[in-house]
Amino acid sequence: MDEKPYRVYVCGNLHCQANGKDHILRALEDAIWQFGLDAKVEVRVSGCQNQCDFAPNLKIWPGPHQYSQLTPEKVRRIAAEHLRDDQPVAELLQRLQD
Ligand code: FES
Repeated sequence: MDEKPYRVYVCGNLHCQANGKDHILRALEDAIWQFGLDAKVEVRVSGCQNQCDFAPNLKIWPGPHQYSQLTPEKVRRIAAEHLRDDQPVAELLQRLQD
């Protein structure tokens, strides 16, 4: 089976779990369904992304593009702009250390 264009890794480790990972995952899945992105986006739960101070986190590949301190509203925007319209949300992106 062909790989989908986007893979979203929602951190499922302790800090992110304690800071709303389940709400983030639900918001992401709802947006994917609403925007009809099922054939375009694969969602996985990952281990720690080393951004625990900024939980909850998700990473999007190709990239990586790191989004942190997420809320369901931010996730909905990321789904619409990054995953549907192919425009990463610059103001929400976390700078990754090289
Ligand atoms: S627990 Fe999510 S980034 Fe570490």
